Amino acid sequence: MSHQETKSAVPEHIAIIMDGNGRWAQAQGKKRVQGHKVGMDRAREMVEACGAMGVKVLTLFAFSSENWKRPEQEVGFLMNLFVTGLTRESKQLHKNNVQLRVIGDVSRFEPKLQQAITKAQQLTQNNDGIVLQIAANYGGQWDIMQAVNQALIDHPESRTITEADIEQHLSGHDLAPVDLLIRTGGEVRISNFLLWQSAYAELYFSDILWPEFDASALKLAVAEYAQRQRRFGMTAEQLD
Ligand code: IPE
Ligand code: IPE
Ligand code: MG
Repeated sequence: MSHQETKSAVPEHIAIIMDGNGRWAQAQGKKRVQGHKVGMDRAREMVEACGAMGVKVLTLFAFSSENWKRPEQEVGFLMNLFVTGLTRESKQLHKNNVQLRVIGDVSRFEPKLQQAITKAQQLTQNNDGIVLQIAANYGGQWDIMQAVNQALIDHPESRTITEADIEQHLSGHDLAPVDLLIRTGGEVRISNFLLWQSAYAELYFSDILWPEFDASALKLAVAEYAQRQRRFGMTAEQLD
């Protein structure tokens, strides 16, 4: 996960905080959960658009470790949506050569959902197209904590661990760090998403609510990304 200066116009790794489903539904006089349903269609569209653009990794924030605090009914709806979505979509993802991975503490999910996750991951594990990471029961602080604990198991004799020790146990440690982090829905915060992996990401905030964030909105974000100069601590002159 080394940070390299890149002049590439297309980000290698895009991560998206898909926010605004509830507000979108409510603005239409619908129930919040209807927004999640439409949000799923946008997620599918995003995988295709990113694949077509040559993006290597797409990470979608689907459910945070804090989202358990929502009303039980909404949490239940989301869990069912994951099970049916994974089962329904995994065949098509496989056909499209997508490698699906779920990151987060999946141990808290019901057995049915855990099984659907395992099955979808196994089906697509040898695909060499775009890697789609779904962050579910994910928290950036949790990720760092579990990586530290794994590193301590690796080095029981050692009183200190290095950045590299932590890094090799983080979710997606074998993938590029986040180049472009997008949040839809108007809020300007990270909400405990990929904290370590986004250390040098370019941030892009859109007021568009997730159910309306389409491929053309994504292209705008990538176009803005292409205009930015990533300096990674260096001076502009050094990069010229
Ligand atoms: C994001 O949309 C989806 C999830 C967190 C699962 P929200 O449900 O947070 O939508 P708003 O922010 O309430 O509009
Ligand atoms: C972040 O959205 C989590 C996901 C998009 C899955 P939230 O809507 O839960 O974030 P906060 O709580 O408003 O920061
Ligand atoms: Mg929200």
